[in-house]
Amino acid sequence: MTGKGLPDPFHVAVIMDGNGRWAKKRFLPRLLGHRAGIKALERTVAAAADMGITHLSVYAFSTENWTRPQKEVTGLMSIFRHSLRKKIEELRRENVRLRFAGAREGLPPDVLELMNESEELTAGNTGLTLVPCLNYGGRREILDAVNSLLRGKPKGSVTERELRDHLYISDLPDPDLIIRTSGEKRLSNFWIWQSAYSELYFTDTLWPDFGRKELEEALSNYKDRERRYGTIGNN
Ligand code: IPE
Ligand code: IPE
Ligand code: MG
Repeated sequence: MTGKGLPDPFHVAVIMDGNGRWAKKRFLPRLLGHRAGIKALERTVAAAADMGITHLSVYAFSTENWTRPQKEVTGLMSIFRHSLRKKIEELRRENVRLRFAGAREGLPPDVLELMNESEELTAGNTGLTLVPCLNYGGRREILDAVNSLLRGKPKGSVTERELRDHLYISDLPDPDLIIRTSGEKRLSNFWIWQSAYSELYFTDTLWPDFGRKELEEALSNYKDRERRYGTIGNN
């Protein structure tokens, strides 16, 4: 236990959805929705650290999101670039460890450099582990793992453990709770291997409106559940 009533480790994963609809409701360009989404992320990171969550992963850009209009993709990359530059030092001071999940190919070289830099700079931090999933797709992750296994020693079969060891962050605990905002009820290719026994929580709140109160609601809902993992549980 973390001392705050949560098991240690405790991994919360968030599908940060609804930025576009948030902006549309206000007659604003979609990119302003994404910018407001960064504010929501800042609130959520601070709240997660206070609440004793040890790992927070956030789905920021999927392998499918490249199919959006060029202007939106470029705008999102520029938001990632600026937010990272602005936040690295503060995250380091706040004892947050950054680890990125996703395919590294295809991202702008300077964004990639900032990702590597911030991972190195915060590698020794022992507080919240923040995992932005950028250019992430669950199927792609499994394929990348299989292909890297195939490049290794030739063998007839692969164990579950070996496959897990080849995922993007092999020592990341599986998500205990996956939250999706904006009312959509699907995983959209997020943590496809790791979500096998995750609890799912859906809220209509649009991502830019999310913060401490909404995270507390999700956790309090989680606490009422019984995870059975195929057993008969407490029955
Ligand atoms: C989530 O918000 C952010 C990303 C996918 C990058 P959306 O941009 O998907 O917002 P909606 O779903 O159009 O409202
Ligand atoms: C999932 O949201 C990806 C991220 C939040 C980064 P999408 O908005 O891309 O998902 P779909 O298209 O509604 O399934
Ligand atoms: Mg969406």
